[in-house]
Formats: sequence, C-alpha cells, structure tokens
Amino acid sequence: MKLFYDKHIFFCTNLRKDPKKVSCGKYDSVELRNYMKKKVKELGLKKIRINSSGCLNRCKKGPILVSYPEGHWYKVSSKREVDLIIDELLIRGNVVKKLLVAN
Ligand code: FES
Repeated sequence: MKLFYDKHIFFCTNLRKDPKKVSCGKYDSVELRNYMKKKVKELGLKKIRINSSGCLNRCKKGPILVSYPEGHWYKVSSKREVDLIIDELLIRGNVVKKLLVAN
C-alpha cells in the first residue's frame, strides 16, 4: 500500500492548566514543533507532515513526538535535537537511537 506521507510526525504541544501537572507544553514544545515545521518547509522536504497533537499520554517522557509509519517515540528537548531528527530521521530515514523513548 502506498503511503500518503513518507513520515508523519505528531508533536505534543499540550499545556496543562494545572502548573503542578507535567505537560510537554511546559518544555517549549510549541516552539520546537514550529521550528521543525519551518525547517522542513525551508528544506523543501516533500511528503513529510509535522502536526501538533494534544496529549499523547507520555507526559513524563516529554517533550514527546511520535513518528509514523514506524511508530517510534522520541523525546526532543532542543532545536539541536529537532535538527538531528530532521537530518537523521526525515532526510536519511535512520532511527535516532539517542532520542528514542522506550515503549
Ligand atoms: S502532555 Fe505531552 S504527552 Fe501528555
């Protein structure tokens, strides 16, 4: 079956109202997701979609994203790590082992 996207990223940008509760939005995930989307566009990468998502229920591991079709989870905490995901995962198609989150 041919896929509509080669890679489809869901980047959690959820920010809980209760400051005592952990959420990806507390760790700049909105900025990181926007940075990733902008870079993918600037690089002209096709068939790659970077979506914001609500809570993916892995809050304590965040900021978190999941990449399909492989279903791998990554903790991405900085623009440098976003760049690594873009270079290794989205361009070269490699698993980024150092950022992987165990299932
Ligand atoms: S707030 Fe991001 S996984 Fe729950």
